[in-house]
Order: sequence, then C-alpha cells, then structure tokens
Amino acid sequence: MTYQFDHQWHQERARLAALEAAFDPWSKRAILAANPQAGWRCLEVGGGGGSIAEWLCELVGPTGEVVATDVETKFLEGIEADNLRVRNHDITKDPLEESVFDLIHIRAVLAHLPQRDAILRRLIAALRPGGWLVPVVTDFSSVRAVQAPAEEIDFFDKKFASVIEAAGVTGFDPYYGRRIGAILRAQGLREVCIEGIVLEWDAGHPLAALYRKTFLRLRDLVISNGTLSEEHFQRLQDLMQSPDFYGLSNTLFVARGRKVAP
Ligand SMILES: C[S@@+](CC[C@H](N)C(=O)[O-])C[C@H]1O[C@@H](n2cnc3c(N)ncnc32)[C@H](O)[C@@H]1O
Repeated sequence: MTYQFDHQWHQERARLAALEAAFDPWSKRAILAANPQAGWRCLEVGGGGGSIAEWLCELVGPTGEVVATDVETKFLEGIEADNLRVRNHDITKDPLEESVFDLIHIRAVLAHLPQRDAILRRLIAALRPGGWLVPVVTDFSSVRAVQAPAEEIDFFDKKFASVIEAAGVTGFDPYYGRRIGAILRAQGLREVCIEGIVLEWDAGHPLAALYRKTFLRLRDLVISNGTLSEEHFQRLQDLMQSPDFYGLSNTLFVARGRKVAP
C-alpha cells in the first residue's frame, strides 16, 4: 500500500494547484497563528506543488531556511528561492534530524500513509522545544450535495462516499482528520488548536477541479472493483461541473500544537 498519485500524470500539477488554491489560505492562517519569525528553520513535508514551501521561504527571509521534502521533487525543484533546500525524502523511513525545526507543516499527506501515527511522532521529535507542528488533515464525512436537482442529491451523496471508501484499499484513511487533536494531545503537544474548515463549492470552485481530477485517477480502481459503473462514474463527473450543483466539501482539520521543553 503506497501513495497512489504519482507526479507523472499529465494533469497532476493542475490537480495539486487546485488543492493549493482551495487550502492554502487555511494553512497560512494556522502558520501565522504560530507567530513565525525571520530566521526560522521550517520543514514542509510532502511539499507537492510547493506553494507553501515557496511562501515559507519569503516568510522566514534570507536568514531562515525551508527544507521541503517529497518522494517526487520535480515541482519543488522549479521554485527559485535561495533559502529553500529541496530533499528527495520518504517521511515513512528516511532519516530526519531531531530537535532542529521551529515549524513543521504537513498537509494532505498523513491520511494517505498507513504509517501516519509513527510519522507524527517523528515530526514531533524533529521539532526544537517550543517549535510548532501544523498538520492539515482531511476528513471526508462532511461531503454532501446541498443544492442540486432532487434526484441527484442522494445519488451524489452515496456515490461520492463510495469512491472515497474504495480508496481505502490503497491505505488511505478518509476519516483521519477527526483524530488529529487527540493524537497531538496524546503526544504531549501543548497549545493544541484545531479548526475544521468546510467550504461550499460549485463547478467553478477549485475543489470541483480537485475532486474531478482525483476521481479520474481513481477511475480504473472504482470501475474494475465494481464500486461504480462507467455510466455512474460519468454522471458523477458531469454533476460536479453542472451549473445547478452546490456541495459541501471534505472537512479540512487544520491543527497546530507546540512542543514543550523536556
Ligand atoms: C496530496 S499531495 C499534497 C501536496 C502538498 N502537501 C499540498 O498540500 O499542496 C501529497 C504529497 O505527498 C507526497 N508524498 C507521498 N508519500 C510520501 C512520503 N512517503 N514521503 C514524503 N512525501 C510523500 C506526494 O508525492 C505528494 O506530493
């Protein structure tokens, strides 16, 4: 069981751009709440398209440093910033420094990786005392149609959920977000703050592009295992770009917590 969405797919940068457009404001708000300072050393785990890594580089300035990791680094390598260090790094197993980072951000990564609890422990070990962990984790239980032709509401709610559940065979936990607060507290972090962000979206919202492109990547899986017929797959895709449709998003659990001195 490994991460399913490699960067070789021709629409992957666009899929990540949709994710960034929808979720960057909430990551940035949580990071700013940690009162980041010029000169901080930050770690961006599974940096993907790199929008947050690039923004962190500006935030910490030339006296600071941002280490941005991913198992595929081609998008990160396109960022021009003197204080960015791109690292080809698997967070499940590659070595990681201890007690050095002032802030670690990890978004839309943990739910995908079965080693998620162990990864959080490693990240806390990598923080310096007083440093902040900012995990941003999805939970798909809130996805609903809120305005659509009557016959499509039940169809959307059931079929969208069935695709998300089917992705569980890859090791994906669609409901990990709700557990993040309990895990951070159990790991001894202080000043833990959790916000659950749910957005209304329509065909023009970046979330529609994110869901449609993500489903395209899951198409073979969900059709071959009988989760959806080809006709139902297409009906779901059409609905997500219909001008008559409005939905509620997955809940983005935006968390932060602080490591205390030993
Ligand atoms: C859904 S994307 C999110 C990208 C970015 N964090 C964001 O929110 O915009 C997940 C990212 O995690 C990376 N990833 C997957 N498995 C990883 C691992 N074991 N170690 C580090 N990065 C990983 C993927 O390559 C991908 O870029």
